[in-house]
Amino acid sequence: MNDYIRMVGITKVYPNGVVANDHVDLGIARGEIHAIAGENGAGKSTVMKVLYGAERAEGEIYIDGEKREISSPKAANALGIGMVYQHFMLVNEFPAWQNIFFGTELRNKAGFLKKKEMIARTKQLCEQYDMQVDPLQPCGQMSVSTAQKVEILKVLARGATILILDEPTAVLTPQETEQLFRQLRLLKESGFTVIIITHKLKEIKQLCDRVTIMRQGKSVGVYNVADVTEADISRLMVGRDVATRMEKAPANPGETVLEVQGLTVAGPGGKNAVDGVSFKVRTGEILCFAGVEGNGQREVIGAVSGLQKNYTGSVVFRGKDIRKMKIRAIRREGMSHIPEDRLKSGCDASSDIFENLIALDYDRNCRAGFLKLKPLRLRSQGQIERFQIKGTLKQKMSMLSGGNMQKVIIARELQGDPVLVIADQPTRGVDVGAIEAIHKELIAMRDAGKAVLLVSADLNEVFNLSDRILVFHEGKITAAIKDVGSVDEFQLGNYMLGIETMEEIDA
Ligand SMILES: Nc1ncnc2c1ncn2[C@@H]1O[C@H](COP(=O)(O)OP(=O)(O)OP(=O)(O)O)[C@@H](O)[C@H]1O
Ligand SMILES: [Mg+2]
Repeated sequence: MNDYIRMVGITKVYPNGVVANDHVDLGIARGEIHAIAGENGAGKSTVMKVLYGAERAEGEIYIDGEKREISSPKAANALGIGMVYQHFMLVNEFPAWQNIFFGTELRNKAGFLKKKEMIARTKQLCEQYDMQVDPLQPCGQMSVSTAQKVEILKVLARGATILILDEPTAVLTPQETEQLFRQLRLLKESGFTVIIITHKLKEIKQLCDRVTIMRQGKSVGVYNVADVTEADISRLMVGRDVATRMEKAPANPGETVLEVQGLTVAGPGGKNAVDGVSFKVRTGEILCFAGVEGNGQREVIGAVSGLQKNYTGSVVFRGKDIRKMKIRAIRREGMSHIPEDRLKSGCDASSDIFENLIALDYDRNCRAGFLKLKPLRLRSQGQIERFQIKGTLKQKMSMLSGGNMQKVIIARELQGDPVLVIADQPTRGVDVGAIEAIHKELIAMRDAGKAVLLVSADLNEVFNLSDRILVFHEGKITAAIKDVGSVDEFQLGNYMLGIETMEEIDA
């Protein structure tokens, strides 16, 4: 095939010696939607950053048959290439329009910003690409899916016709994903070329024309999506068959460790974000919150984990009122928390893997000065192996691939002897092989008599892990499912969208 974009022999060695790309060859046809798949740390983000001029590497890049030096994102923009990163780069304080024109501001002759024009242009872009964004809303106040739209508009405003998206659906709900895909198909129809990095094999089948598979810094093949199954793709990525269905014994629930009663949290606009929610979590079970994002789950987790104290009702963990406790005390009581946002609250990106893995030992052991480092090092090394983290103890978190960062946080939170594990979107951005491993770990926690509270927007995950499901809709629990085998995706979807509610909620 005559490739529109050709990358030949791309080799990228980071300053710390990590070979992220090892003679990668890649071909992208004009007007196709092309997926890049592969394990965490396989080099997907890196090779796309090279195409976008954000990383320099050895090798050659041809666009439309012509050899190009892409030395900066600006040079890439000039060639019509735009990229939305795995972790967004918006300035939270800026409204949408200002982020969209950041670095390419329109100015009049005297050098003053043409604010009105930029706002009007933003509105026009929103209409043209059918994306609902308020030009004046500060990006820090937006939902992730809206912030993502701003990122995409920013790229389109710069005139990109080649759009690179790094795991765009990792943070989206199924509905938002569908909406994004509709928009990407529209772009494709108007001649855009789209490259999308994703771990979700179903999405590759739904959206993409071809898929390039990367393994350990190399491209191992390119396939027509129509010719391969999801199982084929996962085998090519990981090099073995991956179990997508988990084997697990029936739950053996014991005592209640967490009891929430009449929890109400005020929301914006006078409406309650959480409205009189009551439920219990017991040892030896995995209780899952299912629901479309933004229906109160986040606020419930905020109250339960002690991060948020502004509520009425009660949250009692092992007989103690959570509201009166500091985070450190809650943790000492045996609660561990894998937060939804790994960069904001999950880790310290400027520290190394070892420091992040032992962060809780400082919390648990107040005589931090006397921590014995040698056994901790051994333990941490063990965790790196157990969770298949691609990195070394001394490696900075900020230099890890997205999925590997997530694995460090999970390893830290599952160590020690927690009584309750709150796992909020635990496998976001994690590859299929590692998802299998994390699911096994969570089931093992349950089997060891721990309580697990799972929040997940991924229905596969919900069905794979849950012993009980609570469905959230508009701040209320609309269904409490005790026999997970008795409902299917369709039924669950009806509860999630509020089309059906259970008459009696026994949560
Ligand atoms: N800035 C950096 N400095 C040093 N090493 C890095 C840096 N960024 C990435 N790496 C390393 O390069 C390798 C490839 O990383 P990359 O981010 O390209 O992986 P990925 O395929 O996108 O993974 P994921 O699916 O987890 O996002 C990894 O081993 C990673 O630790
Ligand atoms: Mg990546």
